[in-house]
Formats: sequence, structure tokens, C-alpha cells
Amino acid sequence: MKIVQITDTHFSPTKAHFNGNWAPLAAWIEQSGADLVIHTGDLSVDGADKDEDIGFCMDLMREISKPMLLVPGNHDVGHLPGSLQPVNAGRLERWRRLVGPDYWMEDAGSWRLIGLDSLLMGFDDAEDEAQFDWLHAALESRGGRSIALFAHKPLFVDAPGEGDTGYWSVRPAQRQRLYDLIAAHDVALFASGHLHRAWQGQYENTSLVWGPSAAFVVGDMERDMPGERLLGVVIHQFSDTVASEIVAIPGMTAYVLDEVVAEVYPHEAHKVRQRVAS
Ligand SMILES: [Fe+2]
Ligand SMILES: [Fe+2]
Repeated sequence: MKIVQITDTHFSPTKAHFNGNWAPLAAWIEQSGADLVIHTGDLSVDGADKDEDIGFCMDLMREISKPMLLVPGNHDVGHLPGSLQPVNAGRLERWRRLVGPDYWMEDAGSWRLIGLDSLLMGFDDAEDEAQFDWLHAALESRGGRSIALFAHKPLFVDAPGEGDTGYWSVRPAQRQRLYDLIAAHDVALFASGHLHRAWQGQYENTSLVWGPSAAFVVGDMERDMPGERLLGVVIHQFSDTVASEIVAIPGMTAYVLDEVVAEVYPHEAHKVRQRVAS
């Protein structure tokens, strides 16, 4: 089974800066021989507040002839408590109505694929708990299947035991719960997006993969992180084990967010100006 992971497409009907990357990406996916496409979130630019953004992006995704499963990113359903657009019932309802479940599982041969809504993690509320209860049950009932997890946010950025990375990774309490579940089950892969960096590593026996964005890379406006700045996809080849390969796609343009941030993410630009000033 061949799964193509795409992530951080950031398409928009009104902020069309990255939309030109869809044609080469879609053409590549069509000839890739993929059995399934998994999108690990940040489908949109302003989907957390606009039906039209999610609808526009889903119309593009439906151009693909292969099955596709998606988990949301912070630009689709909002982000942490205290952020400008926190996840809330209305934002979750929009995703669930226009896209489908924000967390899901799919069995394929000897594998159980699990998609997680990493944006629920960190709220310590009923939605956060319900997902962990569901994940626990999905892992307990796996039978002999191996597990591959897909989520928007990575488990960590620089080191497995690091503190709260704020915007960038799952928070320490929820991360520890994931570590405990990963240790208790046969989790072969944790694949994520969000960082707009492509990287492969390992946590205990679990392979970690950060998929490259299909929209843009981030320059000096953000702190340095592991991984490569490139645009492309990840090919996950599943047999008894899983082998993952990061692939750059010809014809895609690696736009640099720094150059357009004021137009695309005025809130982020404001934050960057504050950081530079402080
Ligand atoms: Fe993103
Ligand atoms: Fe993100």
C-alpha cells in the first residue's frame, strides 16, 4: 500500500498566493500510483473563520481521483486557548460539516491508520478528553495490526523531552499521553505537518516524519528548526514495516512566507513585528 501525504497546502479563494502549486501537485499525485492520499492539515488560509475557504479547498481536493483522508490544521479549525482564533464549537462544526470527521481510523490490511485532531490537544476539555478516549479504544481494538498516526502538529520540535514549544508542537501533558499510548501499542509511524520543514527521525521504535508544505517555506522571520526547507510530499510505502521518503515535486514554487506575510497573515505579521521590537 502506497500512501502519499500532503500537508500545509494553504489554498484560498481570496489570498491566492500559493494556489499555483496545486496544478503541479495534483498532476504528480494522479500519476503517483498512490492508493490513498492523506492531508495532514492547514488545507486553507482562513478556514478557521470562513466556510468559503474550506469549500474552495475541498473543491480542489475533490479533483483528485484517489481516496483522500484529511485532518485539520490550525488554519482550518483554530489553535490553542488564548490564541487569536481558538478552537471552538463553531469552528469544529464547520470542519465536520464541510470536510468530515476531524479524527478517524481506517484499516488497510495489516495496518490501522489513525488520523488525529492535534488542535484539540491542550484544551483539557471534553473534546480533548473524548479524542483521547477514542484513541485509546482505537489502539486497544487494533488486533494484530500495526499503527500509523497522522496529525497536523509534531510531537516535539528539537527534543522529545523539551518543554512547551507554544505554537509549534503538541503540549507536554498531551505529548506524554501520546508517548504512553505509543509505548503500549505497536505505533510504527507518527507523520505530521505544520512546521513547513521536511524531516525524518525516530522516537523509541516509532518513525517520525514531518511532511514538507505544498505552499511555502518560512525564512528568517521564525526561529531556526531541524529539517529542510522544501516543497513536496511524503511517500509512505507500507508492507510489514513502513518506509517513508520525502520527495520534492517538480514545478512547485517555494514561496517564502516572510515576503508575503503581511498580505496573507496580517495577525502573524503583527506578532513578528512585536517580537522584533521586543
Ligand atoms: Fe501551515
Ligand atoms: Fe499549522
